[in-house]
Amino acid sequence: MAKKIYAVNGSPRENGNTARILNSFLEGAASAGAETEIIHLGRYQFSGCRSCFACKLKGGKSYGKCAVEDAVTGILSELSQADGIVMGSPIYFGAESGIYRNFLERLFFPYLKYSNPPSSIAPRKLEMSFVYTMNVPADVMDMYGYRDYLEKSHKFPQMVFGSSEVDVLYVNDTYQFDDYSRYESGLFDAEHKKSMRDTLFVQDCSKAFEMGRKMALRA
Ligand SMILES: Cc1cc2nc3c(=O)[nH]c(=O)nc-3n(C[C@H](O)[C@H](O)[C@H](O)COP(=O)(O)O)c2cc1C
Repeated sequence: MAKKIYAVNGSPRENGNTARILNSFLEGAASAGAETEIIHLGRYQFSGCRSCFACKLKGGKSYGKCAVEDAVTGILSELSQADGIVMGSPIYFGAESGIYRNFLERLFFPYLKYSNPPSSIAPRKLEMSFVYTMNVPADVMDMYGYRDYLEKSHKFPQMVFGSSEVDVLYVNDTYQFDDYSRYESGLFDAEHKKSMRDTLFVQDCSKAFEMGRKMALRA
């Protein structure tokens, strides 16, 4: 049976940089025979973890599952049967977007068992990758500590889902506006941004395609 690989878009823009990178990832996965689907978090009203601990209540009916009922309850249940997930977020103020972070809490926490050492009660192994898109170039990303901060989330897939590898793509110097001249954007050199859009971003789409292809092969 074909492997099912999902992309989760943590940007409210359904045709923005993150979505385009995620779609390239999914095209790569499809080229290796996977069935694919993109989930745009911006379509849904939902909260982060409510710290109710119903997912940790021994013998409780929601043990190992998120008990919060809202617009992503069905999506979380669908993802519990996935073979792979690529999580994508734009960088907002040096971190992932709020909706992305809310979703990540709901995705990971119910499966994390507070045993000593911590273990997992996820129903199955799945592969996970991460992609981030941002305005700043790579050297500034490192200087501002974005990478160090983001890396903290990358250890969870192995612990929670038994992922065999966690691939990460940082997409820098992205094109933010459809037309820079129409917006207050003196901070940016529009010509430089355009040239990055037509070169670096295209290369990053190819990298994402390859990441997706590799995920489908190892899933
Ligand atoms: C609210 C907000 C905050 C942002 N903060 C940052 C930031 O701290 N660092 C950065 O490099 N880019 C920042 N950006 C730019 C976006 O991360 C970048 O344009 C990204 O590629 C947008 O992805 P999208 O097109 O998928 O929405 C910010 C954008 C918004 C809207």
